[in-house]
Amino acid sequence: MNILLTGGAGYIGSHTAVALASAGHAVVLYDNFVNSSRSVLAALQTITGAQPVCIEADVRDTARLAEVLGSHSIDAVIHFAGLKAVGESIEKPVEYYSTNVQGTISLLQAMQATGLHSLVFSSSATVYGDPQYLPIDEAHPTSATNPYGRSKLHIEEILADCARSDASWRIACLRYFNPVGAHASGLIGENPNGMPNNLMPFVARVAAGRLPRLRVFGNDYSTPDGTGVRDYIHVMDLAEGHLAALDFLTHASGWHAINLGTGQGHSVLDMVRSFEAASGKTVPFDFAPRRPGDIAACYARVDKASDLLHWQARRDLATMCQSTWHHIQSSST
Ligand code: NAD
Ligand code: UD1
Repeated sequence: MNILLTGGAGYIGSHTAVALASAGHAVVLYDNFVNSSRSVLAALQTITGAQPVCIEADVRDTARLAEVLGSHSIDAVIHFAGLKAVGESIEKPVEYYSTNVQGTISLLQAMQATGLHSLVFSSSATVYGDPQYLPIDEAHPTSATNPYGRSKLHIEEILADCARSDASWRIACLRYFNPVGAHASGLIGENPNGMPNNLMPFVARVAAGRLPRLRVFGNDYSTPDGTGVRDYIHVMDLAEGHLAALDFLTHASGWHAINLGTGQGHSVLDMVRSFEAASGKTVPFDFAPRRPGDIAACYARVDKASDLLHWQARRDLATMCQSTWHHIQSSST
């Protein structure tokens, strides 16, 4: 199939481009590089052996999107393009709603104009808010506490309305848990600008000596070791989940919300220990107060992905840490 990846130059998009290319799909990236680097294109060429097709444009440019959908005979879209930093979304809500919500509406208009109805959307476990029970299944109530999370909820609802209005739509909202790790080549991975907000890139930079110490936000949660527990999923497993979702949409219509996680929770201290083992480095840390807005534990029930997509995560925590370490060493300057 010919697949358009909005935000395809980003962290998850670039890994998904590799998985799709290996499965024989033709991939078109569509990105404005607001949070990614053009150097990803050379890395993708090295990994896949083919020069990636990339359109540099904004997802809110509906006319350009429609033109690209038509001229590349696109069969399905995976919509990664969006802004994703929770703290920034509280400071700049208009930018977040514009890029995420308006961007999705623009994409839907372009798809409608070209008669295309197959869409995989990057949603997030953030739509579950503070978990009422664990593991979290897709029937868990949804809520949002910040503009980023609210933008994901609004988009999911808009997509559900589309599917209710027209039976031609085939939409999978993939609710990612905590994507980490990198492609085995080390050539692509997560490269946040400035200070990382998320745990894994922070731990990696401490191990590499680029940051002095990790602050562990809270050691008094009601979890086995008192630190926060999350469902970390290898980005290549996540990428393969998109491939499975595209296959699913070839025979399923309507709107589907599906968790992509491993079903396993790991604490901050588990992550530190695994990263130390993978890197052979020490990760010095201090306990610090809880981070505002954080939850104690969050991990997925993954039966729906297994039943509908015939997909499950295969890579373990050691592989997540080893690939992150390989990437940070390959990209260190
Ligand atoms: P990323 O920032 O690496 O990738 C997003 C890409 O979208 C970037 O390349 C960026 O340049 C592009 N983009 C942003 N605004 C655009 C616009 N207006 N027009 C065109 N391109 C635009 O992020 P990621 O981690 O790869 O996340 C991809 C998607 O998955 C996002 O929608 C994010 O909200 C969602 N998600 C990510 C995580 C995570 O932890 N990484 C978790 C849950 C959900
Ligand atoms: C973050 C996002 C969430 C997003 C998710 C997936 C926030 C507030 N939430 O959540 O919207 O869907 O990523 O990528 O940004 N930790 C430390 N020290 C650090 C960094 C993190 O102890 O320097 C701890 C956190 O307190 C948490 C765990 O590590 O217990 C994971 O944190 P993080 O990687 O930021 O992910 P989430 O909190 O799940």
